[in-house]
Amino acid sequence: MAILEIKRLSKSFGGLQAVLDFNCVVKPGEIHALIGPNGAGKSTVFNLICNLIKPDAGEVLLNGENLVGLPPHRITEKGIGRTFQNVRLFKNISVRANVAVAVNAAKRHGILQSIVRSGPNSALLRSVYEEADQVLEIVGLTHRANSLPKNLPYGEQKRVELARALACPVKVLLLDEPTTGMNPTESETMLELIQSLRQRGLAILLVEHNMRIVMGISDVVTVMNFGQVIAEGTPMEVCSDERVISAYLGEKRNARA
Ligand SMILES: Nc1ncnc2c1ncn2[C@@H]1O[C@H](COP(=O)(O)OP(=O)(O)O)[C@@H](O)[C@H]1O
Ligand SMILES: [Mg+2]
Repeated sequence: MAILEIKRLSKSFGGLQAVLDFNCVVKPGEIHALIGPNGAGKSTVFNLICNLIKPDAGEVLLNGENLVGLPPHRITEKGIGRTFQNVRLFKNISVRANVAVAVNAAKRHGILQSIVRSGPNSALLRSVYEEADQVLEIVGLTHRANSLPKNLPYGEQKRVELARALACPVKVLLLDEPTTGMNPTESETMLELIQSLRQRGLAILLVEHNMRIVMGISDVVTVMNFGQVIAEGTPMEVCSDERVISAYLGEKRNARA
């Protein structure tokens, strides 16, 4: 049974058709990769799902409920968490406070000022911090709770981002290039973490450039090029698909030019 079903999602920016008739189905406990050359429309799909960009057409169904038109914070509350391609953290408050801000936003306690200024000092604040600590434990950053994100290695900053995405009661996780820019050890840690989240039953939509990772952990792979889905199947199936091979060869040629 699908938890996330996307039907004919489309978006153009002026004359550019960034996404056209995008369809996909993601099930709980499944890792569904979304791949394609740069500019294919992958991040735009994520932005459309979260309604950071308004779709021209299409439906985003979470457990059958259409989310299109809901404000982004409502979509988070419904259970869709995401990370961004670039790290977006408050660099000058602690790791714990960064996650606490996300917990607070998800629960709409409205205690942002207290978190940022003074740390835990009320029952409500304490409960928010406790939840933040639980999420930090999941991503393996308990020992970094009091550090400032700007002092952490890049791989750990990305895990703080992930912790923030997990701060809502998340059912579907959208990960936009979670290992890009990481060294092999950091990538491996992230990979294990993604697999552990799958084991918790989360449905994961993963944009990832590292083919070894994609082929190693995905149940289903959807391939986009120029805004459209050009192939979908198991990793083995898409690997041998002519259209996929030529899309990637085209990208290599452009990169050399
Ligand atoms: N907000 C925007 N305004 C105008 N063009 C955009 C915007 N976001 C993305 N695009 C364009 O849409 C296309 C798809 O971009 P994107 O979804 O970021 O690709 P990918 O994540 O697959 O690399 C690109 O040509 C990009 O320049
Ligand atoms: Mg992108």
